[in-house]
Amino acid sequence: MPIELDLDDIQAGCLRGRPNPYAGAYLLLRIDDRRDGRTLMRRLVEAVHPASQMPDPLTHVSVSIALTHAGLQALGVPQDSLETFAPEFRQGMAARAAELGDTGPNAPEHWESPLGSTDVHVVILILAPDLAVFEATLQDTRAALDDLPGMSELWRQDVSSPVDGKNSFGFNDGISQPGVEGSGVRRSNRQEPALKPGEFILGYPDETGSVEPVPQPDVLGRNGSYFVFRKLYTDVAAFRRYLREQATGPGDEELLAAKIVGRWPSGAPLALAPDADDPELGADPARNNNFLYGDDPRGLKVPIGSHARRMNPRDSVVIGEVRLHRLIRRGATYGPPMADGAVEDDGADRGLMFAAVNAHLDRQFEFVQKQWIGDGKFIGTPGERDPLVAGREAGGQFTIPSRPIRRGLRNLPAFVVNRGGEYCFIPGLRALRWLGDLTT
Ligand code: HEM
Repeated sequence: MPIELDLDDIQAGCLRGRPNPYAGAYLLLRIDDRRDGRTLMRRLVEAVHPASQMPDPLTHVSVSIALTHAGLQALGVPQDSLETFAPEFRQGMAARAAELGDTGPNAPEHWESPLGSTDVHVVILILAPDLAVFEATLQDTRAALDDLPGMSELWRQDVSSPVDGKNSFGFNDGISQPGVEGSGVRRSNRQEPALKPGEFILGYPDETGSVEPVPQPDVLGRNGSYFVFRKLYTDVAAFRRYLREQATGPGDEELLAAKIVGRWPSGAPLALAPDADDPELGADPARNNNFLYGDDPRGLKVPIGSHARRMNPRDSVVIGEVRLHRLIRRGATYGPPMADGAVEDDGADRGLMFAAVNAHLDRQFEFVQKQWIGDGKFIGTPGERDPLVAGREAGGQFTIPSRPIRRGLRNLPAFVVNRGGEYCFIPGLRALRWLGDLTT
């Protein structure tokens, strides 16, 4: 029997894709007066689409509302209820830094204020199909705050898809997503089975065959999920310089970059286009994610340590169960693109507002961050971390299997720095109303 999801109650942002192209922003708010916080919840719920009513995710504005643990506290959610949330969420991302490998330049003491502080309570994420719709939605959102002196806007991070659709490193992004049973969303890879909805939405059976207890009361926890976001600065100049230094010739730079990512700049997967980019393949949603790795056990086409293969090894032989560690990604690019060919840092802030939806912070986001990004044991390369996104202070290494002999990249610098993030709870619509109606 297929599982029925209560799509009328689940925020669209959990299950439905974002517009593409997009213009939007993260707004972070603090609740100084719980009555105003509650009024805001009642108002904002009207702006959030349920997953059942998202006419066309590609052209429609998407507004998502999420709360940190401190935010639930500030709204007056009772302590016995707060204690039923996942321990990692209760601690918050900053407190988990050592576990997550957020050390050195990635450590919370270097994070952008107010990220990682107990001041961050409410997260509003607006993603619109163009700048005009974004500005109008932002205005409406701010109007909802106008007469609420007990709410403070602390931080705003704009995001937008670059003109060519590529992320700051020059790659198409957001292509592969897990299928979710009962979501009504088309699977991006027909060869991968859809996952049980309990992997992403609380209150449903998950891939372990059980339904985990939801945060209490049921009306608050059911149909919610955990929303993780991190501002990931990308050092594009360092990436380009490194490729240039390591390349054996001009075409080799693009090949090395593709081996690091697991896809070509157009999004064409190395698994289907091992020798050269194929922009038509990259742009074709019916084909660009339709592959497994079983025919490439040694990684001759797609290195087993490449970013995309680590992040979803599909049918590769790895230690552990891939299906227990999947994420729905909701990332968005921020900052201006770097000038074509430039290799000197221009000082601009650019990167990815990484975001993911998952129902189990411990075995999904945290596991991926710690094991699949931060360690290589699961693929048999203990010393190698994710070549694209791992934080590192000393130089990293990356093996590119090839014939007659493999290539080894050495002294990889850090290309990505974590500027801060938060663990949030993304409630269902009934839960948002329940929060708005709290009286204690
Ligand atoms: C600035 C940092 C990052 C950049 C530039 C980046 C870039 C990319 C690119 C270009 C792809 C391939 C295209 C696609 O399938 O969407 C990809 C895939 C993916 N990335 Fe990242 N990524 C970043 C950080 C992360 C982090 C921190 C995580 C997880 C904690 C992550 C998880 C994934 C996943 C799950 C996939 C899909 C793999 C698949 O199903 O084939 N990424 N990323």
